Amino acid sequence: MCEADSLEELRETLGVCQRCTLSQSRNRLVFGAGNPDAEVMFVGEAPGRAEDAQGLPFVGPAGHLLDDLLAGIGLAREDVYITNVVKCRPPGNRDPLPLEVETCGPFLTGQIALIKPKIICELGRIAAGVMMGRQIQITKIHGQKFLGRGYLNVPVFHPAAALRAPATADLLRQDFVNLKSYLEEDEPPPPAPEAEPEQMGLF
Ligand code: URA
Repeated sequence: MCEADSLEELRETLGVCQRCTLSQSRNRLVFGAGNPDAEVMFVGEAPGRAEDAQGLPFVGPAGHLLDDLLAGIGLAREDVYITNVVKCRPPGNRDPLPLEVETCGPFLTGQIALIKPKIICELGRIAAGVMMGRQIQITKIHGQKFLGRGYLNVPVFHPAAALRAPATADLLRQDFVNLKSYLEEDEPPPPAPEAEPEQMGLF
């Protein structure tokens, strides 16, 4: 983890990052944005084209759907914090490589430690797999809550997947309804299933 007293300090530590080769093809580094005291923190996969151009997370079509989903549960972008597993756009929007995830990991861990959200909501299979330290099937675990590393984790479908398939959009809307109810309750969630030894871990 990167020790910092504030998100601003953590961002300064990241600097003009050249820790991995994604720095060579990115236009703008996308650190994250939102409320530093957010109760819910969203973690996506990686910046896409619009995010790479603007330096902000989820500002393209998937981001517009995310705004809509947030509004549906009475939240606005300003209420939550949004970031990604890796802070730079992979070429052609490919999945981030394990080394890229590992290199960026301390910054995501640092963001989580500073924000201390009540819920971490992983947007999509990649983010959920990284946070849970294992390959997961998002179709099996979406919308459920898991205790992991001291946080309540709620993996959901990626909004981009919902844009491609109306049936997935319906499931994602229900995931957000679940998320709202988890935010309102106090009881501790069940522990995450055991990770297997060779699985990639963020923490
Ligand atoms: N998809 C992501 O996973 N993250 C973004 O910021 C945008 C699209």
